[in-house]
Amino acid sequence: MQDLFAEELEELRAHSLDRHLREITIAQGPEVEIGGRRLINFSSNDYLGLANDPRLRKAATSAVNEFGVGAGASRLITGNLSPHLSLERALAKWKGTEASLCFSSGYAAALGTIPAFVGKDDVIVLDKLCHASLIDGARLSGAVLRVFPHNHVGKLESHLEWARREHSGRRVLIITESVFSMDGDRAPLRELVDLKKRFSALLMLDEAHAVGVIGPNGRGLAMAENVSEEIDVQMGTLSKALGTSGGYICGCRTLIEWLINRARSFIYSTAPPPAIAAAALAAVDFLASPEGEERRLLLWERISLMQDLLRRTGLKEQDVAAHSAIFPWIVGDEKAALDLAAALQSEGFLVPAIRYPTVAKGAARLRLTVTAAHEAAQIRELCDAIKRLSC
Ligand SMILES: Cc1ncc(COP(=O)(O)O)c(C=O)c1O
Repeated sequence: MQDLFAEELEELRAHSLDRHLREITIAQGPEVEIGGRRLINFSSNDYLGLANDPRLRKAATSAVNEFGVGAGASRLITGNLSPHLSLERALAKWKGTEASLCFSSGYAAALGTIPAFVGKDDVIVLDKLCHASLIDGARLSGAVLRVFPHNHVGKLESHLEWARREHSGRRVLIITESVFSMDGDRAPLRELVDLKKRFSALLMLDEAHAVGVIGPNGRGLAMAENVSEEIDVQMGTLSKALGTSGGYICGCRTLIEWLINRARSFIYSTAPPPAIAAAALAAVDFLASPEGEERRLLLWERISLMQDLLRRTGLKEQDVAAHSAIFPWIVGDEKAALDLAAALQSEGFLVPAIRYPTVAKGAARLRLTVTAAHEAAQIRELCDAIKRLSC
């Protein structure tokens, strides 16, 4: 047993593709501690600094006192507790949809929803850079898959023409993200909506990295572009800007009822801990408040500062466009990315290298993320270090 994966692991090491866990010994925040050393964290998805926010902690603690720690069963058996329903009502209201359904993770939301939505002989057309959860959900569905080059509307159009010709009468589902997780750029949403209408297709949009960041009160890109009603399946996660954990689907009531009946990752999994649902509800309430909007605007101030300073480091223009809180510093070579991450760490910054298979081979990068909790001085220090390392 010991040698079972030894060769494969060696192969990973030889190509600088091996991964390791690092132990963080304090709560998430703009600074973390590893091995007794403080590092400024520029890789978290906690874009609004809510993961350790007193409002969320308080909501979770009261829910623990009232409902205990575990949900005890799946939602359809005896695990459907009041915090789950309160959260779903708040999410639907915030996103402006009829209903919503929460899953234990964003990954589980994709894995349960896509196969419930389409099946064999239906067609899924997805963006090349879609997150693994969407790809895995699409594969699991058994539908015919077509992939279009990243944000290439022309290629998407020809796939849709093909789907309508070769699979007439079947469902055609377009899947994309509003903000791409490893590149930080945005989907051309209005053009996608025009196409979906022209071809009578359905559109599933993963807003994982847009909610809390983009749109009024952080409601996401669909809301910002005024096309929310055209999105058939709005997916998101509570685990990034909302600071907690879990995934959700927002949409019409019949979609949600169908998922309750068919989404296997929902049906056959214990309900998320009620305290997490209560904390997520506190996050949604915060985002919907004027104070939440102020925090989101502060995040955009930080994003603009990062963009300005990164420009002066000599990074490529495509790596410094401020479409979201994510700045991909694309290095290319895997070993070079690891070396840069190590050099940044020795300067006091935590920015792990992102490599294949999360991104394509030869497209390794340092994925820099900025949050509202960063001080302007911390962003300056990071950009000074990048300037030193990149020349
Ligand atoms: C675009 C995208 N979708 C879905 C997920 C999965 O969400 P979760 O972390 O809640 O499982 C992620 C998280 O990595 C993501 O980046």
